[in-house]
Amino acid sequence: MSFRIQPVPPARPNRCQLFGPGSRVALFEKMAASAADVINLDLEDSVAPSDKDSARANIIAATHEVDWAGKHLSVRINGLDTPYWYRDVVDLLEQASDRLDQIMIPKVGCAADIYAVDALVSAIEAAKGRKQRISFEVIIESAAGIAHVEEIAAASPRLQAMSLGAADFAASMGMATTGIGGTQEDYYMLREGQRYWSDPWHWAQSAIVAACRTHGVLPVDGPFGDFSDDEGFRAQARRSATLGMVGKWAIHPKQVALANEVFTPSEAAVSEARDILAAMEEAKARGEGATVYKGRLVDIASIKQAEVIVRQAEMIAG
Ligand code: COA
Ligand code: MG
Repeated sequence: MSFRIQPVPPARPNRCQLFGPGSRVALFEKMAASAADVINLDLEDSVAPSDKDSARANIIAATHEVDWAGKHLSVRINGLDTPYWYRDVVDLLEQASDRLDQIMIPKVGCAADIYAVDALVSAIEAAKGRKQRISFEVIIESAAGIAHVEEIAAASPRLQAMSLGAADFAASMGMATTGIGGTQEDYYMLREGQRYWSDPWHWAQSAIVAACRTHGVLPVDGPFGDFSDDEGFRAQARRSATLGMVGKWAIHPKQVALANEVFTPSEAAVSEARDILAAMEEAKARGEGATVYKGRLVDIASIKQAEVIVRQAEMIAG
């Protein structure tokens, strides 16, 4: 470990972020009743330009009227390259109830994007005497966003989470696909005439996880577009969890249970992690730093790996 200790991310479950357009008021109660940890009411790309003003008003009303229970309530504002975003921030901060927890900033390209929103949010919070300090989450979904991912992760103490937005990311990178996450037909290796599919999102995900872990931010996998493909969603989510991400978006309610399933450590995984911790306790009592558990090496690094799983399970249970 460097002299600088790795900061811990916010201790709240973020297994599933359920999205819904701010223009579809009828979905709000259903979203509030869902099993998602985070709710993302959208003002950006699921809302037509002609509906931006009414969607904003709908969301503000819903912060006062809907019972969001224990959910982390986030609103996705429009990008800083649009004429809408400043009005999103001003109206939300001036008119939304203190139930609003978070603002999601899409398509961030550099730390200055967050600085700009932070300055505006800070001024309105002070002017209005808002009690609930708004947190931020961002979406990395452009070439600039991934190129500047570390300065973005470090940009503001308000920043709690960072997601990979596969569709806009693919477009910005010029990737030859219209798929939103998951396996891409043409991304394969050939060996002895057999195709083996590889993961085109791997590099971006790993870059996001590293930047997030360096700065105490929650790394999250974004949308999986084909909501008829449960196994495809599970496979994508399991890869993300293996790489260190803590959760995934749901763009349809049927994906909520899938995300919760994958990002809640299984009983078997928790029990094995506890067994490893116990084996290492016994090794320590014998004055050893390494021992054998079920035929494989475990050592002091294994304690840290096991603790990741146990801590995540306890945080979710608590
Ligand atoms: N949250 C909660 N409930 C939702 C929902 C959502 N995002 N989307 C649909 N539902 C409800 C429907 O109202 C319906 O409820 P009912 O059984 O009580 O009638 C049920 O779930 C089944 O819905 P279905 O008919 O399969 O979907 P749809 O055609 O109404 O909507 C989408 C499909 C994809 C358009 C819709 O889910 C959606 O808008 N998703 C979010 C899109 C978004 O926010 N994108 C931005 C981030 S990428
Ligand atoms: Mg996007």
